[in-house]
Amino acid sequence: MTKAQAEQTIAELTKKINYHSDLYYQKSKTEISDLEFDQLLAQLAQLENQFPELREVDSPTQRVGGTITKEFTSVTHKYPMLSLGNTYSKEELEDFDGRVAKGLDGEAYEYFCELKFDGVSISLTYENGLLVRGVTRGDGVRGDDVTSNIKTIRSLPLKLKSNDAPASFEVRGEVFLPKEVFKQLNKEREDIGEETYANARNTASGTVKMQDSAEVAKRKLDCYLYYLLGIPVETHSEAISKLEAWGFNISPTYQKCHNIQEVIEYINTWEKKRLELPLETDGVVIKVNRIDQQQQLGFTAKSPRWAISYKYKAESVSTRLNDITYQVGRTGSITPVAELAPVFLAGTTVKRASLHNANEIARLDLRIGDFVFVEKGGEIIPKITGVDLDKRQANLTPVIYITRCPECGSPLERKEGEANHYCMNEKGCPPQIKGRIEHFIQRKAVDIDSLGEQTIKQLYDLGLVKSPADLYDLKKEDLLKLDKVKEKSAQNMLAGIEQSKAQPFEAVLFGIGIRYVGKTVAEKLVRHFKTIDHLAKATLEELIAAPEVGERIAQSVFDFFRDSENVREVERLKQSGLQFESSAKEPEKVSEVFNNVSFVVSGVFEKYEREQLQEIIIANGGRILSGVSGKLNYLLAGDNMGPSKKEKAEKLGVKIISIEEFEQMLKG
Ligand code: IVH
Repeated sequence: MTKAQAEQTIAELTKKINYHSDLYYQKSKTEISDLEFDQLLAQLAQLENQFPELREVDSPTQRVGGTITKEFTSVTHKYPMLSLGNTYSKEELEDFDGRVAKGLDGEAYEYFCELKFDGVSISLTYENGLLVRGVTRGDGVRGDDVTSNIKTIRSLPLKLKSNDAPASFEVRGEVFLPKEVFKQLNKEREDIGEETYANARNTASGTVKMQDSAEVAKRKLDCYLYYLLGIPVETHSEAISKLEAWGFNISPTYQKCHNIQEVIEYINTWEKKRLELPLETDGVVIKVNRIDQQQQLGFTAKSPRWAISYKYKAESVSTRLNDITYQVGRTGSITPVAELAPVFLAGTTVKRASLHNANEIARLDLRIGDFVFVEKGGEIIPKITGVDLDKRQANLTPVIYITRCPECGSPLERKEGEANHYCMNEKGCPPQIKGRIEHFIQRKAVDIDSLGEQTIKQLYDLGLVKSPADLYDLKKEDLLKLDKVKEKSAQNMLAGIEQSKAQPFEAVLFGIGIRYVGKTVAEKLVRHFKTIDHLAKATLEELIAAPEVGERIAQSVFDFFRDSENVREVERLKQSGLQFESSAKEPEKVSEVFNNVSFVVSGVFEKYEREQLQEIIIANGGRILSGVSGKLNYLLAGDNMGPSKKEKAEKLGVKIISIEEFEQMLKG
């Protein structure tokens, strides 16, 4: 391919990827599969590697991560990252206003109010319109350089929209996981039997510090900016307008207030309304608007005298704990739930609250009949924060956690290191059976939207369906036995079941519900093993060698295919016509430089994901072998490659090459 051709293809691919990315991230819609999307990206990355001078700084390849950082570099902040003085009361706020008035010697001033976003603060440096560095707060003086992770945040401009920005400036803001994304993430984790995360803020904080930026990219972090440094502006509101014009994400909730009364009105207005925002907030930040006045007021050792944060008190009520019930999930995990005397709290009536696991019950030292405090903070989900000991009656005894499954009576188990108890009667416990069928029909799996939870329940109760494969034996007569189901809806259901046979292998593999195999892992397994037969026969070592598969997932997949009932179920699904082979087209040929050349790719690479390299090899005419043998031409070695592979390659005289040598070969 000539450079001119590459330039045009790069432009076309960039446009296409940005279109699909925008559709996905801004409008939550998809027109192509994840695999097709990844292939477009891989094609672009490959061309950019071949012609590095054509790589744009804001190319979509720069957002997908792939950089592995073993230890973040510590960076000294140019301007220290201070914290804010806190207050919980309006009186203290008036005191603050008094101090501001005094400090400004009677000069007129106004405030700029923003919400206090509950995430992780970050400091970004832009040079010549480009994002060059993202650093965490750390201890306020020094933080960690997390640039590669920050670049995955879609709403952050890698390159500024307008070119009137100064050569260098710093901007600060808050990185967060939107509530919806957090909820979805936890739902997905629960669905595949992983423990859920406790709250969005800690999860965002953990995500910003992940070593693999490709993982960060998947988490869909977002960021609001609220502080511009290193540029002469007259007011904070002018700074905010500039940031908006340069393409930064600014929460539209800010407001200029002329005096402290207006500030208090702002605080009151947002107390309830903030619960509807896409992220968690825990207060209001009040800033003196004029920068010269900010300078006049200055700083104490810890915080500015020109700003303060007002924290909302989490609303809390006390109510009676009537009972604790236990829910059984699809994977057999037990969740205790507090059954409360209904109580009105922050806009809704609360009757139940999750207690998560036995540790939480012990930590709170709960007793049935206790009066407990229920709280709703920035989050929507109510939680129990403690017991009102003054109201505790003497005769109440501590809760004894159940030892048998409330649904099927089998003994519960709790594995070493896990917080949850599990019902191990996988095959005979009704909610686990129904849960597996619901998991199978969900949109991300085989997508039978003509069936719902209620239908599955009835089909199960009537003894018609006990596993996903039974769905494909259903006749119209069977469906007509269901409540309110007439000819038309029965036909609809059958049509939906029929259509599911066209769902790709990765959707089916996710649907069959192997523990720890989420959508992404299913996709990776399909890409690696291509067919169910290869996957089912894979040894533990072969499974671990697949991308994204660690020991725990490998063991779970391995065990799944060693259970005869599972094997029979898969066989029945296969007989019914579901897809058990990868439908991915071979990537388009870009060149023939690797014609008849074979590779094994091993270890981790700073700039690439392993599969991306494999795709590049195939797209350039090469072959990927499953292991090191005498037939192999090259072992492409990254960091942390297993010593046995290296030894074997050396013994057999296979050439071991570095990523730089590989890039050189690619240039032909
Ligand atoms: S301004 C010198 N504005 O609150 C003032 N901070 O306790 C710089 N925060 O570390 C901060 N929302 O992480 C500012 N609208 C907002 C904010 C905000 C959240 C966080 C920030 C900071 C902490 C201060």
